[in-house]
Amino acid sequence: VVGRDVGALGKHLVLIGFMGAGKTTVGRDVAHRIERPFIDLDQVIEDAHGSIPELFEQGEGQFRALERSLAEDVLRTREPSVIALGGGAVESTETRDLLRRSAFTVHIRIGVDTAWERARDSGRPLARDEREFRRLYQVRQAVYTATADAAADDAPDTVRSSLGIRVGPRGVLSAGALVADERVLDLHPLDLGCPVLRVPPGEPAKHGEVVRRLWNGLELGRDERLLAYGGGTTTDVAGFVAATYLRGVRWTALPTTLVGQVDAAIGGKTGIDLELGKNLVGVFHYPEAVVCDPSFLATLPPEERRAGMAEVVKTGLLAGEPFWELEDEAMVRECAAYKAAVCLSDPFEETGRRAVLNLGHTFAHALEAAAGFQLRHGDAVALGLRAALRLSGQSTDVVDEVLAPEAVDVDLDAAWEAMRRDKKNRGGRIRLVLLAEPGRPVFPAELPEAEVRAALSELLRS
Ligand SMILES: NC(=O)c1ccc[n+]([C@@H]2O[C@H](COP(=O)([O-])OP(=O)(O)OC[C@H]3O[C@@H](n4cnc5c(N)ncnc54)[C@H](O)[C@@H]3O)[C@@H](O)[C@H]2O)c1
Repeated sequence: VVGRDVGALGKHLVLIGFMGAGKTTVGRDVAHRIERPFIDLDQVIEDAHGSIPELFEQGEGQFRALERSLAEDVLRTREPSVIALGGGAVESTETRDLLRRSAFTVHIRIGVDTAWERARDSGRPLARDEREFRRLYQVRQAVYTATADAAADDAPDTVRSSLGIRVGPRGVLSAGALVADERVLDLHPLDLGCPVLRVPPGEPAKHGEVVRRLWNGLELGRDERLLAYGGGTTTDVAGFVAATYLRGVRWTALPTTLVGQVDAAIGGKTGIDLELGKNLVGVFHYPEAVVCDPSFLATLPPEERRAGMAEVVKTGLLAGEPFWELEDEAMVRECAAYKAAVCLSDPFEETGRRAVLNLGHTFAHALEAAAGFQLRHGDAVALGLRAALRLSGQSTDVVDEVLAPEAVDVDLDAAWEAMRRDKKNRGGRIRLVLLAEPGRPVFPAELPEAEVRAALSELLRS
């Protein structure tokens, strides 16, 4: 199915790169973030056959044959894992073929000078002679570049690239059709030399009539790609159209809002609204690439920026890092890496891990419903975070200082009823995401109803 094979979804995530690049350290870190087993091929070799320098002494050819056969065993294991391959393992054409078929391969980059500094005293067989080391570096770079699906510098970068996420100048893009928010198109004209289909700004884009118009307007072949250009509403509707047109075509997201870059364009959820409520129709359809260019954020109106900051604060609280203090590009990078890691660990919302992304959202959705969806989502999330922090026994300073949400004028009973209908609830009990401390989300947390209702009522204007 198109979209199920994006990036490292359902496949091994294999790290390749020159000696000293840090494949083992990065690999272990990435495996922890995306909750997959970590396999270090050099360790597998040493556990089974003894020290690599000693094996090397017996002849490089023999060592490479052993490495090839163990790489094959490891790559054939079924459970998608994070695998660090030795620097020379990709010299084998068999291994490269297997990587192409069964893995998403990331080249962990390192400069030759740093590599030499790290490797020179390591006792590695190929790091004894500097000239030879530098020559080998040049030869191997070409192999790594030709073999890898992506390149990365560290663990967060590896996680992002495993879902096709790139943060920085948008560079050259191509598509068979462009689905764009008409306001964004006026502010930031984009000509890709392909047909352009406009959607209205904001929530009206996520409407069945818009979907029908897009289906009818598209003239895409199955191998062509749709590009969604706008905020979360545009990527939600365009992704949904990409998922359903011709039973699924590939798509790229070019999110232009902070909400889009740190949240909505990541994680494969696409959908539209019904009269009964938001996001009631939708499917998972991961974009093949997500290009987050922070320069778009310069034209965001303050209220849209505030909406994005609510998600930034949420992500920072979940990660235990003050992402909200960073400048835009770094902030987007960190938040995107966090969400991508959670989604890679539970791509289709099957294990419950993704539920942590709902920190503050149970309250927010209830307030939005009670306000007849006239309340801005970001403002509702800000209030929801305050309630979640309070119930977690944590300071609410960050919410008060960074987001400063104002109490809302909605009916407590209506909000409470909406909270009781939350889709995370089981057996009539409200299940919340709380924080044991920043960086340690707890789900499901069940508290006495009176306590939850009191926290909800504190968000309302009395
Ligand atoms: N799929 C998901 O996982 C997910 C996650 C979170 C939110 N969402 C959805 O995302 C939507 C909210 O996204 P949003 O906050 O990006 O809203 P949005 O797409 O409506 O954009 C907000 C406003 O900003 C304007 N805009 C966009 N880019 C701009 C720019 N660079 N400069 C100036 N104005 C710009 C738009 O025209 C619009 O008026 C909701 O529908 C929500 O349900 C989806």
